[in-house]
Amino acid sequence: IVHPILLCGGSGTRLWPLSRKSYPKQFAKLMGAYSLFQSSAERMIGQGFAPPVLLTGSDFRFVVTEQLAAVEISPAEILIEPEGKNTAPAILAAALSLAERAPEALMLVAPSDHVIPDAEAFRSAVQAATPAAQAGQLVTFGIHPDRAETGYGWLEIDGALAEELDATPQPLKRFVEKPDKPTAEAMLADGQHLWNAGIFLFSVKAIIAAFETHAPEMLMQVRTALEEAEKDLGFTRLAPDAWAQVDNISIDYAVMEKADNLSVMPYSGAWSDLGGWDAVWRESGPDEAGVVTSNSATAIDCHDTLLRAEDPRQHLVGIGLQDIIAVAMPDAVLVAHKDRAQDVKEAVAALKKKG
Ligand code: GDD
Ligand code: MG
Repeated sequence: IVHPILLCGGSGTRLWPLSRKSYPKQFAKLMGAYSLFQSSAERMIGQGFAPPVLLTGSDFRFVVTEQLAAVEISPAEILIEPEGKNTAPAILAAALSLAERAPEALMLVAPSDHVIPDAEAFRSAVQAATPAAQAGQLVTFGIHPDRAETGYGWLEIDGALAEELDATPQPLKRFVEKPDKPTAEAMLADGQHLWNAGIFLFSVKAIIAAFETHAPEMLMQVRTALEEAEKDLGFTRLAPDAWAQVDNISIDYAVMEKADNLSVMPYSGAWSDLGGWDAVWRESGPDEAGVVTSNSATAIDCHDTLLRAEDPRQHLVGIGLQDIIAVAMPDAVLVAHKDRAQDVKEAVAALKKKG
């Protein structure tokens, strides 16, 4: 049985102004009737799956419970991080908590900001990866790359060409988190690399052992934060003092780049991280001119452009635009070149400074 661990504490700043500090993108209805978070939770229920463990910040605890209730999922546990410390401490806290009640368990760690349309194919991939995880491998899911993306982790396959891989776990030679552009271009060209989907399957034992080797201090600190945690209305609040000591680092840098017991499970179904507005544009099915409009937006002679107005009473009109992202919220408007979608993060930082 696989225990889903859903990470939903990120702030999603690259999708500003839709994604806000108080209401990050994973909870917003970006595409369709459900939030990305709800779709992620639903992907990991059913036969072979235990109820999920959620990790989030205090501000989002009720959004999480409400959105889960709306899709009729009852969580096994909701761990509250006193502050966001990125994915490594969060995953470790989940592992240590599971170690108490299910020490032999496998955990399937998944972000809540992904689009995976074929849930059935995804569950089959998880099943196929299970023996490797049971054997102590840290399994990550690999996606066939179609561009030199610098916002992802890349996985170097041992030997075979990436496109020839069959759907069984493969040994992984090297894990490269967020390369620079020339490195990404070289990895795309050599056919030996897949993207890291950011979804992991491993045993509780194997991941705790990996932290013991690669981040022993974090292991001690997170253990303390869990031992001193406060149970409150079904939430487990990690102890703030111990948590404050913990490094802010992702699992990719803290463990995956260093570990030598990695395997990759190739996944050939559709997958996307809605990391920025360019991805939302790509995933929303642009028309022949490459235009995506929503709600009350109107495009005239536009190409490769996203126009999105959140309030149906607000009219947004684009004329003669090329490669533009325009997102209007009642209190904020973003207009950006599509190639600069990743820099929205910078804008949010600049606004924060302004106060
Ligand atoms: N609970 C919790 N606490 N969740 C967090 C925190 C935190 O402090 N920080 C991030 N998350 C959640 C985010 O909400 C998201 O669902 C997931 O963890 C991954 O974080 P991102 O910030 O979106 O990571 P990324 O997209 O830059 O990179 C990761 O994912 C890529 C694929 O989507 C890496 O694993 C890359 O290697 C990978 O290619
Ligand atoms: Mg992401």
